Amino acid sequence: MLTDHLPRISLAHLPTPLEPLPRLSAALGGPQLWIKRDDQTGLATGGNKARKLEFLVAEALAQGATTLITAGAPQSNHARQTAAAAAKCGLRAVLVLGGGPPTQQRHGGNVLLDRLLGAELRWAEGRDRAEVMAEVAKEEQAAGRRPYIVPYGGSNPVGASGYVAALEELAAQLAERSLRMDHVIFATSSGGTQAGLCVAAKALHFAARIVGISVDKEAKALQATLAALARDTAAHLGLELHFAPDEFFVHDEYCGAGYGIVSKMERAAIRLLAETEGVLLDPVYTGRALAGLIDLIGQGAFDEEEMVCFWHTGGTPGLFAYGDALLE
Ligand SMILES: Cc1ncc(COP(=O)(O)O)c(C=O)c1O
Repeated sequence: MLTDHLPRISLAHLPTPLEPLPRLSAALGGPQLWIKRDDQTGLATGGNKARKLEFLVAEALAQGATTLITAGAPQSNHARQTAAAAAKCGLRAVLVLGGGPPTQQRHGGNVLLDRLLGAELRWAEGRDRAEVMAEVAKEEQAAGRRPYIVPYGGSNPVGASGYVAALEELAAQLAERSLRMDHVIFATSSGGTQAGLCVAAKALHFAARIVGISVDKEAKALQATLAALARDTAAHLGLELHFAPDEFFVHDEYCGAGYGIVSKMERAAIRLLAETEGVLLDPVYTGRALAGLIDLIGQGAFDEEEMVCFWHTGGTPGLFAYGDALLE
């Protein structure tokens, strides 16, 4: 295993299921759709951050940390899973959350879970969240505690290692069932998921095309971030691999509505998967990613017989903060 030599603790329920989506595939007229259920990683309702936190929290504990500090949007799934990881490891958690409308989004969904998990919340309002995290770190030190800052989205080489291991997990599941995948598609934002998957794909000569549907970033900027993060992640693992920005497949044509804005296409995608397969997506990331995949299918981007894995990266608590927008 590519990550065997790295410090890691167990936080996630692994391996996550790999399941066919026959009714969705039929409804869309092919390709052969499968789903990798990282919404089932556990750690306070699942999601992709559980895999990253196995490596990040191991580093925090090795450094003697007593407090995990991280930041995100009001409905951050990353912040919620960081709070759960802290609780499980007996650490304090301080979450710096960005401003947002003082509505459901500041009380329900992930924010409710953050509170139940015992995290301290700091609302950054219009302030720079990195600055507020640095301030919190100073306060923790002054109080005699040892802070560890978990980077935004858990996306540094340590966190991205979680998705290096995840692709190895998928490759093993495919080998076991004598299956192949032609495409792996998922929501991408801070880049740790995509960078980790691409490092492992290159190291293992995994043939599928790894495709991120950007929820908020322009493709060019995200490709540059991915190339740097993949290079640093490979170096962290002791692998000599090189990456150029144009090796990363990113679709940014579905993020025009803006981060966290639910429009018709997300609503339709969420409904379609729920009604055909009984699987729930989230309004911000996976709803948009499946909407992108459905659009690409409509454009004829895949042959009917091609195998496409939609990687569900979690986020379902967000549904409960977006009830009105989802039922419009
Ligand atoms: C549910 C969900 N999916 C996808 C992502 C994007 O993952 P990454 O930040 O690794 O690109 C996030 C990140 O916050 C998320 O919460």
